[in-house]
Amino acid sequence: MLFHILTIFPEMFKGFLNESILKKAQGSKVIKIHLHDIRDYSANKHKKVDDTPYGGGAGMVFTPQPLFDCIKAVKKLAPKAPVVYLTPAGKRLTQTMVEKLNKKFEQLILLCGHYEGIDQRVIDSLVDMELSIGDYVLSGGELAAMVVIDAVSRLVPGALGNDESHREETFSKKLGRKKEYPHYTKPAEFRGMKVPEVLQSGNHGAIEKWRRAHLR
Ligand code: ADE
Repeated sequence: MLFHILTIFPEMFKGFLNESILKKAQGSKVIKIHLHDIRDYSANKHKKVDDTPYGGGAGMVFTPQPLFDCIKAVKKLAPKAPVVYLTPAGKRLTQTMVEKLNKKFEQLILLCGHYEGIDQRVIDSLVDMELSIGDYVLSGGELAAMVVIDAVSRLVPGALGNDESHREETFSKKLGRKKEYPHYTKPAEFRGMKVPEVLQSGNHGAIEKWRRAHLR
């Protein structure tokens, strides 16, 4: 999976991409990240990318020119990839959607907005999908893009190392979320709190039964 990230803050991704599973997955080439700085595409001599909104109101809006040129350039590299705009007004990201993105596409173009938003003409002519990671407003799309990258990457075959594997996923349709059983590790007793006997028994049938009974 190749992720193209369109952002005015490429540095924000450095720490996130250079740790843990994403670092390993890039090392083993199962995922690739290409950062594109929107500001590099600004035709303005001061590399300006925003302006005041028509009709008035608070804040600034991304101007169309740098976004058009940046998206067009990236589309040339990835003609089949959808342009995904991260915005609180988008469709809510769910695990089902994460699975679809992983199955359907080899590359994703993630557009990170800022300020009050981006010029509507960019959305109307170049954006394929608007995604929100939740009902709250972040100061930019970067954190949301990281969430998409993380959730999609762990589904890419080979992205999780040998010792990490997909745990059996149990979804509760009623609650609309994943169910988990409680996890314990060493020591068997910590500050007087004991790990349930059955989990130490080695009896796989009994352990399975206990875990099913304790899903929450
Ligand atoms: N940009 C700002 N807030 C966001 C959110 N909740 N989801 C996706 N992108 C955003």
